[in-house]
Amino acid sequence: MCGIVGYVGPGNTVDVLLAGLRRLEYRGYDSAGVAVVSDDGSLGVRKRAGKLDNLIASLDDAPLAAGATGIGHTRWATHGGPTDTNAHPHLGDDGKLAVIHNGIIENFAQLKQQLTDEGFTFVSETDTEVAAVLLGREYRRTGDLFEAFVATVAQLEGAFTLLAVHQDQPGTVIGARRNSPLVIGRGTGENFLASDVAAFVEHTTHAYSIGQDQIAVITAESITVTDFTGNPVEPEPFEVEWDASAAEKGGWKSFMAKEIAEEPTAVANTLLGRISDGQVVLDGLDAIDDDVLAKISRIIVVACGTASYAGQTAAYAIQRWTNVPVSIELSHEFRYRDPVLDDSVLVIAISQSGETMDTLMAIRWAREQGARVLAICNTQGATIARESDGVVYTYAGPEVAVASTKAFVAQVAALYLFGLHLARVRGTLGADEIAGVTAELTGLEAAVQEAVEASASIPNLAHWMADTRSVLFLGRNVAYPIALEGALKLKELAYIHAEGFAAGELKHGPIALIEPGLPVFVVVPSPREAPLLHAKVISNIQEIRARGARVLVVAEKGDTAVLPFADEVISLPLVSPLMQPFVAVVPLQVFAMELAEAKGLDVDQPRNLAKSVTVE
Ligand code: G6P
Repeated sequence: MCGIVGYVGPGNTVDVLLAGLRRLEYRGYDSAGVAVVSDDGSLGVRKRAGKLDNLIASLDDAPLAAGATGIGHTRWATHGGPTDTNAHPHLGDDGKLAVIHNGIIENFAQLKQQLTDEGFTFVSETDTEVAAVLLGREYRRTGDLFEAFVATVAQLEGAFTLLAVHQDQPGTVIGARRNSPLVIGRGTGENFLASDVAAFVEHTTHAYSIGQDQIAVITAESITVTDFTGNPVEPEPFEVEWDASAAEKGGWKSFMAKEIAEEPTAVANTLLGRISDGQVVLDGLDAIDDDVLAKISRIIVVACGTASYAGQTAAYAIQRWTNVPVSIELSHEFRYRDPVLDDSVLVIAISQSGETMDTLMAIRWAREQGARVLAICNTQGATIARESDGVVYTYAGPEVAVASTKAFVAQVAALYLFGLHLARVRGTLGADEIAGVTAELTGLEAAVQEAVEASASIPNLAHWMADTRSVLFLGRNVAYPIALEGALKLKELAYIHAEGFAAGELKHGPIALIEPGLPVFVVVPSPREAPLLHAKVISNIQEIRARGARVLVVAEKGDTAVLPFADEVISLPLVSPLMQPFVAVVPLQVFAMELAEAKGLDVDQPRNLAKSVTVE
C-alpha cells in the first residue's frame, strides 16, 4: 500500500516519477504527489487527491521547475482522509524538505504531541508529516541530511519506508526501510529508489534489495547503503527477470483482461523446468530439505484474500497425495489465536506480492515458535520470500490489476508441485503416480487456454445482470474455494454482495437467501470422474431451482445431466477433478470483470482496495 519512487539523473524527473507512479498505482490510488528539487535549488511540490490523472492534469496546467532530483508517491489512505492536504509529499516546517512514506508510524501521536509542545505546527492529519517535521528539526540541529535522517528514523516505531529530498542538498534522494518494501534501481548516470521494480524497469533491470532497517542514499552516480546507525552494508544485487512490456497493457482494454488471457502462460511458466521425466524438481527449498519434510506432522497455510483461496484449493490435493493434514488460516487471525506450533509444523505462506504485512507478521511469529516456513511468492526477493526458510516462486509475471487472477492459478500450480515433491519424499505416491499427475499438470496450459476462450460468451451474461444486487456461488470439494474466490472477485470488482458456499451447506441455512430471480453460480463436479459428487450437486441445484433461483451452471463440456436444471451453462474443458479449479475459476473471474465493466466501473483499480497491503 502506497507506492514510492525516487529519482536522481539527467532524465525529465517529473516524467520519470509519473511513469513510475503509473506502474505503482496498483498499491493505492487515493492521491498522488511529487516533489522536485529544481536546478536552482528550490523545492517544488504538487499533490492531488484522487487518481494519478488528477496530478498529471495539474502538472500539465502549471509545470514544476525542472530539476534532477525528485520523489513521487501514490497513496492508500491510513491516517487522514484522501484529501489534497493529506496527500504526500509532506514538508518540514521550513518548507525546504519533502518526505513520502509507506507504512504506519505507530508512535506518531506521541511524537506529534512532543513536537507540538516544542512549538511546531501541522497542516495534515497524517503520521508522515510528523516524520517530515522531525527530519526538519534534526536537519537544523545537524546541518546534514544523512545525519538528520539517521536521527529521525531512530525515533520512529512501526512500519515505514521513507524517502526524503532537501533543497539544500540537490542531487540526493535518501530512503529508509523498516517492514515496508524498498528496492534500488541502478541505471547509467541515474539511480532509482522504489517500492517495487515495476517503477523503474523501463530504465534498468539492475536492482538491489534493501534489507530490514537499512538506509539508502542515491545520487546520479552513487549508491550507498547503511544500517540505521550509519554503518555501511553491502546491498544484495539482483536482475529483474521481466521487461517493461510485461507490465504494460499492450492494447488490452484492462490489465485484468490481459492478465486473465495470460493465465495459461502463468501456469506453464510456473511448471517450466520443474518437471523432468515425469518427476518434480524444485529448487529454492533450501532449509526445507528432505529430512525436514520427512518429519513434518502437519501443514498450516497462511495467506490473505485470493492467495488464501489458492491455499484452500491446493490443500485437497496436498492432503490426498501426502497424508499430511493441511489447514488454512487467514494470516491476521492465525497469530492471535495461539496456534500450537513446533518444529514439526510446516507453515506455507502464500503471497503474490510477498509484502502483505499480515502474512509477514504471521511467518515471523511462526518462525519464532520454531515452525519452518515455506513461501509461495510471485515477486523475486520480496520480504516474505527472504524471511522464509525456503521459497517456491510462481512465474506469473507482474500482476498489475488489483484483483488477483493469473497469480491465483500460478499459486495453485506451485502448491501442486510442492505437494508432489512432498509425496515423493514421504513415499506416499510412487513415481508412476507422480508421473500421471505431472502429465495432467503439463496439459493445463491448453486446458486453461480453452477455458479462457470458452469465456467469450460471458459478457452477454454479465450485461443482463448489471442491476443484480446479490449473487451466490456454490461449489463442492475443490470447487468450494473456487466458489469463494468467485464471490470475492465479484465483491472486489462489481461492488455487489456476493457469497460463496459449500454446496452441501446450503440446506443448513443459506438456502433461506434464495428468492425468485437470484443468480446462483454452481460449479459442478465431473460426471465422468466424480459421479457421486456430481449427483449430489445436481440435487443441490434442484433445491435452489425449485425456489426460483436463476441457475448458472459451470460444468464440463458434455455434461448433459445439468441441462434440464440450468438457466445458463458455461462449459469447461475435460480435466481430472483435482485440475478443475484451474479451469473453473476462469469464467468466474471473467464474469466479475465483465459485470464491473457493464456497470461502468474501473476493473483495474476498484474502490478502497490496494494490491499490496503493507499495513496490518
Ligand atoms: C489484497 C489484494 C488481493 C490479494 C491479497 C493478498 O487484499 O487486494 O487481491 O489477494 O491482498 O495479496 P498477496 O500479495 O499477499 O497475495
